[in-house]
Amino acid sequence: MADIKHIFRTVLLGSAVLGGLYAAPSHAEDNDEQALMARGAYLATAGDCVACHTRPGGKPFAGGLEIATPKGAVFSTNITPDPQNGIGAYTLEDFEKALRRGLRKDGAYLYPVMPYVSYAGLTDQDVKALYTWFMHGVQPVAEKAPETQMGFPGNIRMSMMAWNMLAESEKPETGDSATYDKLRRGHYLATALEHCGTCHTPRNFMLVEQQDQYLAGSQLNGWFAPNITPSSTGGIGDWSEDDLVAYLKTGHAKGRSQAAGPMGEAVEHSTSHLSDEDLHALAAFIKQVPAHDDEIDHQARDSFGKATLSADLRSGIVHRVDDLNPLDGPALYDANCAACHGADGAGTADQYVPTLYTNSVVGSGRTDNLVMTILEGVNRSTPSGHASMPSFGGHSDVQRLSDDEIARLVNYLTQRFGSGDHHVTGAQVGAMRPSPPTPTPAPAVSTGAGHVTAPEHT
Ligand code: HEC
Ligand code: HEC
Ligand code: HEC
Repeated sequence: MADIKHIFRTVLLGSAVLGGLYAAPSHAEDNDEQALMARGAYLATAGDCVACHTRPGGKPFAGGLEIATPKGAVFSTNITPDPQNGIGAYTLEDFEKALRRGLRKDGAYLYPVMPYVSYAGLTDQDVKALYTWFMHGVQPVAEKAPETQMGFPGNIRMSMMAWNMLAESEKPETGDSATYDKLRRGHYLATALEHCGTCHTPRNFMLVEQQDQYLAGSQLNGWFAPNITPSSTGGIGDWSEDDLVAYLKTGHAKGRSQAAGPMGEAVEHSTSHLSDEDLHALAAFIKQVPAHDDEIDHQARDSFGKATLSADLRSGIVHRVDDLNPLDGPALYDANCAACHGADGAGTADQYVPTLYTNSVVGSGRTDNLVMTILEGVNRSTPSGHASMPSFGGHSDVQRLSDDEIARLVNYLTQRFGSGDHHVTGAQVGAMRPSPPTPTPAPAVSTGAGHVTAPEHT
């Protein structure tokens, strides 16, 4: 298992890449404390605390990120060691209660957007390491995060007590997590730290994760976190351990899948900074969770399609662009996508621009992620490089496509490279645009009905 030296190296590498996000561990006095600090920093990266506890453009861990939930917006809090605005006055015991039991220092219940149900699985030693690092390794920020105002009468925090009785928390692991064997380490990383299930496990009407459907797929604010169980038809049963490691490390599994939206962020902030040993442990664990088939996908999402030139090119008739109906799928593809993804959809030779066939987003029977990719583009930085595709949504600096254009493009792409006929409408695309939110989204569109969602993406 990853020894401390290894962890420290990874952390240094990670923080160099994150551009001095973290304060140097200057308070560390002896080796023990230094080791604890290094471990804490690594765990904070694995737990992706920064993703929720930092607002766009804000100081790391100073909170203030607005996170949408079906019951209203929740603001993340300042968890820097500033005594007035942050958690500087928290004792180790206070910190443990917040992290593993969802209790604030003053005894109030935290909203379960804070994934304490997962962090409940942390060992005592790792809670202490995180505490040590947050107290001594993070710059205090004297900035108050906005208060969460739920538009509900009464004290909604109290209802969290009932919620906590329904939700099944992880049980704290014991011993030294660095000495676990591969599968136990993988389980620990996946459940207690990486909280893959926060996004990939469906929730019931009370928003509690359904553990008997672990990783079977779930809506997420326009995106869909797909079924990643080892089912060979509904999940990622055809992926090798190395495919999964490559995906988590770089956001890109060649000829299969790329990470955009919330997954791009999870890769950027968290998984790409894990040691190779930990990534293999995580992948080995994911590969052996119970398989669940999918109600919509009945063939591996990354197994559809092949390179095809557009019908016009195949038949040898070369059209001038203005001969094509500019509103049709083929013309929209040629004008906006073909320059990068190729006329035949094969992408570039090195696959920096990926193929659109054998592409899990195009092959999925759920068109959510294809629509969202076109609306938001891809923007992901990892130690292995930067992946970037322009957005075609409202903030696009290349081309703003209308709802109808995106719908036509999606129907065309899934037909040409994916799982077949889809009938996405412009109204459905409109309802998925991140802002402004439409008051009454079309029912056929998944609008994240009932989901605690991850950090906002821009
Ligand atoms: C998915 C988003 C998310 C992640 C990831 C997350 N948090 Fe939180 N956390 C929140 C939100 C939101 C709150 C405020 C909840 C509330 O006000 O009820 C919170 C509250 C807290 C609090 C209570 C602070 C206070 O006094 O209000 C602590 C401590 C905390 N988080 C620590 C952490 C640590 C450490 C990590 C990483 C191991 C982490 N959080 C990861 C969303 C998150
Ligand atoms: C913040 C929410 C979130 C978290 C946390 C998260 N995922 Fe994802 N994941 C997603 C979304 C959304 C997608 C779809 C991304 C896309 O289409 O670009 C995805 C896609 C994937 C895929 C690609 C599946 C396919 O068929 O293409 C894999 C594999 C994956 N996630 C594994 C994981 C693992 C393992 C973890 C925990 C280490 C994890 N995810 C944590 C939201 C999340
Ligand atoms: C400037 C070049 C460029 C253009 C133009 C472009 N793309 Fe991309 N596309 C990329 C790159 C780069 C990636 C991401 C590769 C990665 O994630 O590693 C990508 C990724 C994708 C993905 C996979 C996303 C995921 O979440 O898995 C899809 C689908 C896609 N593009 C479709 C399109 C469509 C449709 C258009 C036209 C509207 C388009 N692209 C225009 C470069 C481009």
